[in-house]
Amino acid sequence: MLRFFPQKNKYVQEEAEFLFDEKGPIPKHIAVIMDGNGRWAQNRRLPRIAGHKEGMETVKRITKHASKLGVKVLTLYAFSTENWKRPTDEVNFLMQLPVDFFDVFVPELIEENVKVQVMGYKKLLPEHTQKAVKDAIEQTKDNTGMVLNFALNYGSRAEIVTAVQEIAKEIETNQLQSTEITEETIADHLMTNFLSKDLRDPELVIRTSGEERISNFLLWQIAYSELFFTQALWPDFTPNLLEAAIASFQNRDRRFGGLKETT
Ligand code: IPE
Ligand code: IPE
Ligand code: MG
Repeated sequence: MLRFFPQKNKYVQEEAEFLFDEKGPIPKHIAVIMDGNGRWAQNRRLPRIAGHKEGMETVKRITKHASKLGVKVLTLYAFSTENWKRPTDEVNFLMQLPVDFFDVFVPELIEENVKVQVMGYKKLLPEHTQKAVKDAIEQTKDNTGMVLNFALNYGSRAEIVTAVQEIAKEIETNQLQSTEITEETIADHLMTNFLSKDLRDPELVIRTSGEERISNFLLWQIAYSELFFTQALWPDFTPNLLEAAIASFQNRDRRFGGLKETT
């Protein structure tokens, strides 16, 4: 945490230390911007794709740990609508990853009772990626535990545009009056609408790799989310760091625009 000392006119980097309380509140929905795979590989003089491969191992570890802690929804930002700008080789590798990943990991997900979901512009994914995604969703559909929700070819602005188009169509066809549009109408048209209303908005957003930005992720849904940034690159992110993020969350004072409750 960066603290400003006005008397000295200087900023000091301080790592706040909180203890994780297993019995304390666990965020129901955690969303993660998994960043830093490329840098992890470059630091080792490896090609960037080696970082994406290693990042998948982190996904497995973090999924299991989040499920164990009782998280209800874990949303992982895997590929943004802007990531198509990357070199073709890297994009191709990223589109092959779900195939290899689900191939190996689905049996473990079934064992852990984890249900896979994918949100994003799926029809624009290559056929083999679409198939891998469809199969994983189908194979885990009866699981009743944590939802593992991948944001794949997802972009929040595009998502909002699509929602507005759908709502406009409902007005055109007289299914809806413009005066009836509420916040709920909009939330109902976003890609998180497959989740029950109490689970749609993440309570905690984590971003790895030291970048402190949102990069077009869940702009509507994170209105009141707690944000946690860590220097760790995604392949280095550990279950301990997940607990540190939750510990930080447990020490936040969430006010939602109101005032702190006094006893
Ligand atoms: C995150 O790692 C994974 C994706 C965006 C697909 P990056 O590939 O963005 O890694 P850096 O940020 O370049 O290190
Ligand atoms: C955000 O990371 C997207 C994913 C993690 C999938 P990026 O690496 O694409 O974001 P920027 O370019 O640093 O904002
Ligand atoms: Mg990045």
